[in-house]
Amino acid sequence: MPHIATRRATVDDLDVLIGDVQAGFDSYTEFAPLGWLPPEVSADDTRTAEILIDADTWALLAMAGADPVGHIAFTPARRRAAGEPWDSSPSIPGLAHLWQLFVLPPWWGRGVAPLLHDAAISEVRTRGYDAVRLYTPSLHARARRFYERRGWRVTDEEWNEHLVLMLTEYRLALA
Ligand SMILES: CC(C)(COP(=O)(O)OP(=O)(O)OC[C@H]1O[C@@H](n2cnc3c(N)ncnc32)[C@H](O)[C@@H]1OP(=O)(O)O)[C@@H](O)C(=O)NCCC(=O)NCCS
Repeated sequence: MPHIATRRATVDDLDVLIGDVQAGFDSYTEFAPLGWLPPEVSADDTRTAEILIDADTWALLAMAGADPVGHIAFTPARRRAAGEPWDSSPSIPGLAHLWQLFVLPPWWGRGVAPLLHDAAISEVRTRGYDAVRLYTPSLHARARRFYERRGWRVTDEEWNEHLVLMLTEYRLALA
């Protein structure tokens, strides 16, 4: 693998992060039902910026030279309330939420995602969380394989109106 450097991402990287997420959502056409359309990620840029600015959010960017190739980010987990502001419910003690792990498609299978994943889990541990939660599309076999190989276990499944897809909830216990 070419050398991949990492650095903390901030709100100044908003456009890069939005580009990563858009490329990821666009790739869901590989498994989503025929006619499914990816959401326009930039439409949510205010909310994304608010989460990034929050002092308890941690985000890391992977760089190949000067080119960003993916990122990971986590926040304190909260109860999910559709249509409500992201921080309207209190955080769940001891539980981190793996908010985003998005690697640009040309970099899949090349070690970038494992590097980002391990760095984030290490930081989650450093911050004293007991467990981490994430949601991924139930039909997303590649992501599910990635997480399950790293010890993540299915805890629930729920419909997501924004993505118009079923999502599987995974948790990773850190004890
Ligand atoms: C999900 C993601 C982060 C994983 O990173 P990656 O570099 O693709 O992951 P890897 O290639 O290291 O691991 C994928 C695993 O799935 C396997 N795989 C690939 N395609 C698969 C498929 N269609 N079905 C089942 N398994 C598949 C790979 O062989 C690999 O398993 P292995 O390590 O046992 O060989 C990356 O694909 C991505 O960013 N996707 C778009 C955004 C996204 O979906 N993010 C997750 C949202 S929660």
